[in-house]
Amino acid sequence: MEFNRSFYKSFNSFQQPFYKDEILLQKVENKLNSSKPLVSIKEIDDLLNRLNSVEKNNSFIIQAGDCAEKFNDFKNIPLLLSIFDELEKIVLKNGFDDVIKIGRVAGQFAKPRSSNFEVIDGIKYNSFRGEIINSICKDKREANPARMILAYNQSKKSIDFIKKITKSFFTSHEALLLPYEANLIRSYLGELYASSAHSLWLGDRTKNLDGAHIHLLSIIKNPVGIKVGKNSNKEDLLKIIKLINPKNILGKVMLIFRLGENIKMLNDFISLIKKNNQNVIFLSDPMHANTKILNGFKIRLIDDILKEANEFFSICKANDVVPRGIHLEIYPDNNINECLKSEDEKIIFKSFCDPRLNKNQTINLFKELNF
Ligand code: PEP
Ligand code: CO
Repeated sequence: MEFNRSFYKSFNSFQQPFYKDEILLQKVENKLNSSKPLVSIKEIDDLLNRLNSVEKNNSFIIQAGDCAEKFNDFKNIPLLLSIFDELEKIVLKNGFDDVIKIGRVAGQFAKPRSSNFEVIDGIKYNSFRGEIINSICKDKREANPARMILAYNQSKKSIDFIKKITKSFFTSHEALLLPYEANLIRSYLGELYASSAHSLWLGDRTKNLDGAHIHLLSIIKNPVGIKVGKNSNKEDLLKIIKLINPKNILGKVMLIFRLGENIKMLNDFISLIKKNNQNVIFLSDPMHANTKILNGFKIRLIDDILKEANEFFSICKANDVVPRGIHLEIYPDNNINECLKSEDEKIIFKSFCDPRLNKNQTINLFKELNF
């Protein structure tokens, strides 16, 4: 299929870094363009088929992993996979017959930011945008295109590692960094596929209808997640869904609701989807609208997370929709305390971005879900 890998340059684009070294950027783009796909077309089609069969197989989707992966963190992959296994057992005891496991892993390196700058100890620095773009070190915040190659290599290592340990595990990340994603698109039998992960999602901050991100996600065949926050406009959301899934195929679009205190808005979104006969999968991200600042740290209260998730389940059920899964930010060990049971608990914060549930918190949350 005819495809111009520079397409994104002719669209509005949001949340993109400024690369000073254009020659290096071009070299990196060429290298990515000639590199092997990180995931295979067959596996992407497998995920599409699994998602297409969620009703037949009575499946539940667990999409979880880090907020912002770190390059050297792939050693935690066995722990992450073992948590998915624990969670799967809980889901299967609660009325579902099949679990589709999708990690926020092996490529979750780019972060959208609400501000281009942050102030640390009274000094203004560029914001950290994820290891694929710049360094967390405050004086190394200039965007460096060579980091895309590091991210590619790290993703490759992580994927190889995952494959050694388990079968039937899929990878995903936010489709954010355009030169990276565009240069990893591959063409096969007349279709285009993103080869950086099995599934990509559209973040809440890059949902501009005329923007490059939506265009990118509308030309690929991979399953696509769409984050839906309280500011999502219903008419626009419908247009986005139709652009991304013009054939209205079940499994192509997962709507990932992150509504926080506004979870009741889910009723309106469900009506919209039903009225327009859109085949979509409903997931809950009960974390991203529940972030607070406490003593200078970003935290989330576990009760807020549980409350949103359980309200998501009950609103879906009251509207005759099957709540098909959950999207979480988790860290597979217990040596962090970023999400809190109460505000006077000790914070142990190691995340490069948002607060994650630790291992026990994740498993306990699942035990309390009203599936
Ligand atoms: C995320 O999932 O890490 C994220 C930034 O989410 P959102 O786009 O929903 O804010
Ligand atoms: Co996050």
